[in-house]
Amino acid sequence: MSKIICLANQKGGVAKSTTAINMAAFLGLKDYKVLVIDFDPQGNASSFLGVNIDEPDLKTSGNWITGESEFKETVIETKFKNLFIIPSNDILKQAEIKIESDRIQSLRYLERKLTEIKNDFEVIIIDTLPSFGTLFINALVASDYVIIPAKLETGSLFGVKNLIDNILKIESNFHSLEILGLLGTFYRAGVKECDKSFDELVAAFGDKVFDAKINLTSKIAEAAGFGEPVAYYDTRNKGYEDYNSFVDEVIERLKIAKPVTACETVSQSK
Ligand SMILES: Nc1ncnc2c1ncn2[C@@H]1O[C@H](COP(=O)(O)OP(=O)(O)OP(=O)(O)O)[C@@H](O)[C@H]1O
Ligand SMILES: [Mg+2]
Repeated sequence: MSKIICLANQKGGVAKSTTAINMAAFLGLKDYKVLVIDFDPQGNASSFLGVNIDEPDLKTSGNWITGESEFKETVIETKFKNLFIIPSNDILKQAEIKIESDRIQSLRYLERKLTEIKNDFEVIIIDTLPSFGTLFINALVASDYVIIPAKLETGSLFGVKNLIDNILKIESNFHSLEILGLLGTFYRAGVKECDKSFDELVAAFGDKVFDAKINLTSKIAEAAGFGEPVAYYDTRNKGYEDYNSFVDEVIERLKIAKPVTACETVSQSK
C-alpha cells in the first residue's frame, strides 16, 4: 500500500513544490515508484517537472477529483525514472467550487479518489497550496504523513505552529496524521538568521526536524525553470547532495527499505 505524504505550509514560497518534485525524483532514482499529485491550481510542481499546464487538452487533478476524467487519463509518465504526475492548473479552482457544493463529503474527495490507486505506487506525494481551505484540507485528510518545509528565516516558527494547530484539528475530526518531519529550506551558511531559525525549530520540535537542510542555491531554481529536478540537472550541486540526504532520511522514517522492481501503469501520452 502506498505511503501518502503531503507537503504543507500555509506560508507561501517555502519550497513545498520544489521539495515535492526533488523528493519524488530521488525516490524514483532509488527505485521507488512515485506519483506526485499536484493539488495547487498554480501548477508549479507540474511546471517544475516539465508539464505545460496551459495545454488546452491537458487533464488535471481538477478533472480527476470531480470524476470528469479517469486516473489513466490524467496521469503522465515523466521522462524521469519511476516518476509519474497528475498535473494541475486553474481547473482545480473550478473543481473546488464543485466539491464545496457537496456539504457532507466535500473534505473527503481526494481521500476517496486515492483508494482507487493506493496499491499502484510505493509513495504518493501531494503538493498543496499556500492557503487553508477545501483543497488544503482534502490533501491533509487524504494523507498518512505531512512534511513541513520551513524557510530558515525570522518568524518561520510562527507559521509552522499555525499549521500544526490545523493538523490537530484534522486529527480530532478525521484520523491520525503523522508529522514525518520538518525540513529547513533556503539555508545560507554563515548567516546567523538561518542558524537561529534552525535552532528554534529544533528547540520546538526536537528530532522531528530533518538533519538535512536545503541550501539556497540558484541551480535548484534554475533546474525547475528548465522543468527538471536537480538530480537530473546538476549532480555536482549542493542542492543535489541536500535533497539526496533528505530523501535517505525520509526512506528511513517511512521504513520502506525494499525498492520495487517492476514499474507499470497507464498514462497520458505526452
Ligand atoms: N533551495 C533553493 N534555492 C534557491 N531557490 C529555491 C530553493 N528552493 C526553492 N527555490 C525557488 O523559490 C521559489 C519558491 O519555491 P516553491 O515554488 O517550491 O515554493 P512553494 O512553497 O511551493 O510556494 P507556494 O506557496 O507559492 O506554492 C521558486 O522559484 C523556487 O525555484
Ligand atoms: Mg508550491
